[in-house]
Amino acid sequence: MQDVLPEGGVIRKLWVGEADKYRDHVLRLDPESRHSRFGGGVSDDFIRSYVDLSISLDTVVHGFFLNSVMRGAAELRPLGVRLPHQAEAAISVEKPWQSHGVGSALLRRTLLTARNRGFRMLHMACLAENRRMQQLARKFDAELSFDFGSVVGEVESSRATPLSMMREMMADSHGFATAMLDLQSRMLRA
Ligand SMILES: CC(C)(COP(=O)(O)OP(=O)(O)OC[C@H]1O[C@@H](n2cnc3c(N)ncnc32)[C@H](O)[C@@H]1OP(=O)(O)O)[C@@H](O)C(=O)NCCC(=O)NCCS
Repeated sequence: MQDVLPEGGVIRKLWVGEADKYRDHVLRLDPESRHSRFGGGVSDDFIRSYVDLSISLDTVVHGFFLNSVMRGAAELRPLGVRLPHQAEAAISVEKPWQSHGVGSALLRRTLLTARNRGFRMLHMACLAENRRMQQLARKFDAELSFDFGSVVGEVESSRATPLSMMREMMADSHGFATAMLDLQSRMLRA
């Protein structure tokens, strides 16, 4: 399915050395979105530490970029050796770009990556009142079970196939080209 994104926007994986883009995006989230993303109010310092830790783990971050600025992110983090086929996902989109299909595109790309890494179960934790995230998860056939005011969406991801591997590789090569063009234009401007 084709992603419908705001004009000029691209989705690509974050490369090594781009943690600052991710951190700045999360710090820009408005209070309500920040609260929804982390399940409560968190400080700027918490976010800085969170991003440092997240990037140091085996996490795949997809970013939504517009004019070289990261305006949305989706994290995919394995739950570790004890739960080998399970991962956690979390999504954030800055307010002006919400409800424009960015969250759907980020989740679609994250599911493809999850599938190609052999994850069978994707956990998404969000607050019970976060209807938008639940709507979004439902679009991808999430099964939702309620637990102490939070909702955990469990998306059964299908198995990797040569085609799904190829789709991820093509998306990455396009993302790499975009990142290089971006770097080049910033160097020319400097
Ligand atoms: C939840 C979030 C990631 C969704 O991203 P988004 O870019 O707004 O999502 P989309 O535009 O792709 O919309 C996804 C679905 O949400 C629903 N939706 C969109 N806007 C909505 C609104 N204003 N009210 C209610 N539902 C809405 C729709 O069902 C939509 O699907 P459709 O367009 O096919 O009908 C984003 O709102 C966000 O970052 N919120 C703050 C952080 C957060 O809550 N993260 C989730 C916890 S991990």
